[in-house]
Amino acid sequence: MAGRIPQNFIDDLISRLDIVDVVSARTRLKKAGKNYSACCPFHNEKTPSFTVSPDKQFYYCFGCGATGSAVKFVMEFDGLEFPDAVEKLAGDLNIEVPREGTHQQNREPQYRELHALTQKAADFFEQQLRTSQDKDKAINYLKDRGLSGKAAKFFSIGYAPPGWDNLQNTLAPGEKNDSTNNKTIKQLISCGMTIEKEDGRTYDRFRDRVMFPIRNVKGQVIAFGGRVLGDEKPKYLNSPETPIFHKGQELYGLYEARKIRQKLTRMVIVEGYMDVVALAEFGIHYAVATLGTATSEHHIRRLFKVVPEIIFCFDGDKAGRTAAQRAMETVIPSLLDGLQARFLFLPDGEDPDTIVRKEGKEAFEKRLDNSKHLPEFVFDSIKEQVDFDTLDGKARFGQLAAPLISRLPTGMLKELMQQQLAQETGIKQEVLAKLLPTETEPKNQHKTSDSKPTQAQVAAKAAPVSPISTSTEQNIHDDYGNHQYDANDEEYDVGDFIDIETTAAAPITKDDRQLALLTQKALTLLVKFPESAQRITPLEDFEPEDESERLLCEVLKKLKQSPQSSSIGLLIQWTATPFSEQLKEIANQSLEIPEGVDPSNDIEGILQRLHHRALRREWQLLQLKVSTESVGKLTAEEKARYLALPKQLKKHKK
Ligand code: UTP
Ligand code: MN
Repeated sequence: MAGRIPQNFIDDLISRLDIVDVVSARTRLKKAGKNYSACCPFHNEKTPSFTVSPDKQFYYCFGCGATGSAVKFVMEFDGLEFPDAVEKLAGDLNIEVPREGTHQQNREPQYRELHALTQKAADFFEQQLRTSQDKDKAINYLKDRGLSGKAAKFFSIGYAPPGWDNLQNTLAPGEKNDSTNNKTIKQLISCGMTIEKEDGRTYDRFRDRVMFPIRNVKGQVIAFGGRVLGDEKPKYLNSPETPIFHKGQELYGLYEARKIRQKLTRMVIVEGYMDVVALAEFGIHYAVATLGTATSEHHIRRLFKVVPEIIFCFDGDKAGRTAAQRAMETVIPSLLDGLQARFLFLPDGEDPDTIVRKEGKEAFEKRLDNSKHLPEFVFDSIKEQVDFDTLDGKARFGQLAAPLISRLPTGMLKELMQQQLAQETGIKQEVLAKLLPTETEPKNQHKTSDSKPTQAQVAAKAAPVSPISTSTEQNIHDDYGNHQYDANDEEYDVGDFIDIETTAAAPITKDDRQLALLTQKALTLLVKFPESAQRITPLEDFEPEDESERLLCEVLKKLKQSPQSSSIGLLIQWTATPFSEQLKEIANQSLEIPEGVDPSNDIEGILQRLHHRALRREWQLLQLKVSTESVGKLTAEEKARYLALPKQLKKHKK
């Protein structure tokens, strides 16, 4: 592609940039002494550990270790390759980027001219939506579809009026034999806007259609999709492949999603232009569409550079299922640990456009939250194809699943899926491996060999979980002491059938340490005996104090939601999260409980203790408030709690 950017240009550019400007254009910075600080844009955190140093012109995150210069920041944040990041930064300063290499020098201006032409075409279509004598037709169509002027403007939606030569006459208005004019017409043909007949006559490709400009990640218009206003065919007409437009690489809406200042954590791939626009209209600014083609590996790699999670969204019909199957096969080789693919099926006859208009943003995002994880989708869809109740069917199941799993990059997800396959089929993993001696590493490993993790992976890996919280928050809590309501440690009879090794430093009080161990124990029991969840009542109004407690509550919730979950199924759902290591460790422990003992009693006992401690802490905090301020200073809610808590605590002690 483009030639190298000369080093002295890069040096010069960096010297002209101020990293504070670059970062603050993307993340809100706060002045903190000589430096600036912010919540790290590369991992999830609540208190800022990200700093930018104007003196040294670099950024650093104490939480996840992300660090680098202004260019690196733009690469990571905008998900751009180095040359594109340089182009972007230079563009912001209105500087042109020079390129080395001879043939490039001939091609670059040519591309530039094509880009300029497609931009002019986009301007023309936008203007026609306001001025064409047929504009009412187009405006009414868009209105009927519920599109606001704001959304139309944001996506630069336009209108190609009826007629064979509107665009051509506007962009190449000169005489027939004028050489500049001829050149422009040739370029219009080259970028797909004009069609040349065999006899040499030319006409506009897009006529009487609503026009969606397609932009590349830099925001340059490179192609169009045009929709008819009625039922004529084809419904959508897209620009053909051109020197500046390669369908299999571009995603409609990606530039627009980036342009909005937002922290992208996931992206949804939908089928149509209107789906992207409608979702954005409803505040879901992270949808992209392929351009009438299937999702390619290139698309997927591009998205995984920006986010750790991709959700594929399909219609619920048969075509949707087939498309999902294809997407699944395409995404598999890219699923390095820390990256997730999920699948959302909409009810038959609906697409994101119709459903978000019917149900609204929250309901649609709920659907996204509940979409199927890849392993679930793989196993479920294969089960649909075989008669799983017969031995033959199970063998067939193995035959279909194993090659898919073998195409996953080496890592935890692959390992877990192999385990699950063995579990589901009852065939030992070693035997399965022998049945499939062809297991090969996917070629697509270049990302693994890349020494630096992508931004998405960094985000996914952030916030490691230690089995026992040693946070300072805990110490603060302990300052309130245990003098009011002393927890009677021996009150809960928790069977003692697991030894938990603790490697992390222990929290301050004995009570806390014991509870941390018990939390681990409850988690282990739950993972090992997932069916016991059905007999446990989850805690209400309980705010977990650390990650382990949160995990315990989340695992319980998940198990109650899907009673059929197996231990491994559970692990797979969490592979791409910070909890996966911990869960895997638990699953690998061997654990036997005496016959006739129901682990749910123990788990519930532990939950009760956690709840009791939370109530006690709340009580202590309120007491402190009461003793330092007057009762009158308590809010109505706090007062109610102050009155209710002693009773609740007493009940707990029983
Ligand atoms: P759909 O036919 O599912 O339509 O095409 P849609 O997106 O719901 O469109 P509306 O709501 O009727 O306007 C999905 C995508 O497939 C491509 C387009 O990219 C379209 O957005 N497509 C469809 C074509 O390229 N050509 C066609 O004739 C139809
Ligand atoms: Mn539609």
